[in-house]
Amino acid sequence: MQIFGVDIGGSGIKGAPVDVERGALVEERFKLLTPHPSGPDLVAEGVKQIIDHFGWTGPIGVTFPGVVTGGSTIRTAANVDKSWIGRDARALFSERLGGLPVTVLNDADAAGVAEMEFGVGHKHRGTVIVLTLGTGIGSAVFVDGQLVPNTELGHLELNGQDAEQWAAARVKQDHELTWEQWASRVQTYLQHVEMLFSPELFVIGGGVSRECEKFLPLIHGVNAEIVPAQLRNTAGIVGAAMRAAG
Ligand code: BGC
Repeated sequence: MQIFGVDIGGSGIKGAPVDVERGALVEERFKLLTPHPSGPDLVAEGVKQIIDHFGWTGPIGVTFPGVVTGGSTIRTAANVDKSWIGRDARALFSERLGGLPVTVLNDADAAGVAEMEFGVGHKHRGTVIVLTLGTGIGSAVFVDGQLVPNTELGHLELNGQDAEQWAAARVKQDHELTWEQWASRVQTYLQHVEMLFSPELFVIGGGVSRECEKFLPLIHGVNAEIVPAQLRNTAGIVGAAMRAAG
C-alpha cells in the first residue's frame, strides 16, 4: 500500500509517496525550504506544492515539530511560528488539499515509529528512546514497542535552561562548538534522560546522525546502548505515512 508522507521541519518541508509495507520511499523525496514566517498559511501552501509535484490524490500523513493531539490539534510550536498553537492542522491541510484525508503527528514520534518498525528499534522490547538532534531536540519514547506520544524531552531543564537550546545540533553550528564540546553536552543530556527513564536503548536521529562516528564514540558514562538511527532522513516521512495508513 502507498501513502504519502510529509515531514515539516524548522528548516525544510519534505515529502514522498511511501510503500508502508516496506518502509521505503517509492520516489525520490521533494524538498522545499520552510517558509518565513512559518505560520499555517505559508506552510500549508508548501505542503500543497509538494503534493501537487507528485499529483498525489490519496491519504497523507504529515509531521509537525511540536505537540500534536488527536492527530490534528497543534499545542506547541517551539521552532515554528507561534500562530500554529491551537490550530486544527488536519482540517487546514485537508481543506488546502481539496479534501484529501490527512493525519498529523509529532515529527520525532513519526521518526521513532519508523525506526521501531523498519530501523534499529525493530522488535526491541523494554524502554527505547529515540532522540532527534536537529533544530531542536525531539523525543519518542517506546515501551515494549508502544509509543508514548508527545514526550517533549527536548524541553527538559538542564543547567537552568531548555535542554534543546544547549544541546541540539543547531547549537553546535550556531556556537561553532567542536565535536568534543558538543558531544560532552549531548552526554550530559543523555545522562539526565537516563536518570529519569533508564532506557535499554537510545536511538540518535536527525541530520547529524549522518556524522555519528564523529560524536558517538566521544560519549561515555551512559549505561544504555546508544546507536544511530538507521532510516536517517526518510524516517519522518515514512513514520507519517505509516500513521496515516492506520
Ligand atoms: C519540539 C518538538 C519537536 C522537536 C524536534 C522541539 O522544539 O517541541 O515537538 O519534536 O523540537 O523538531
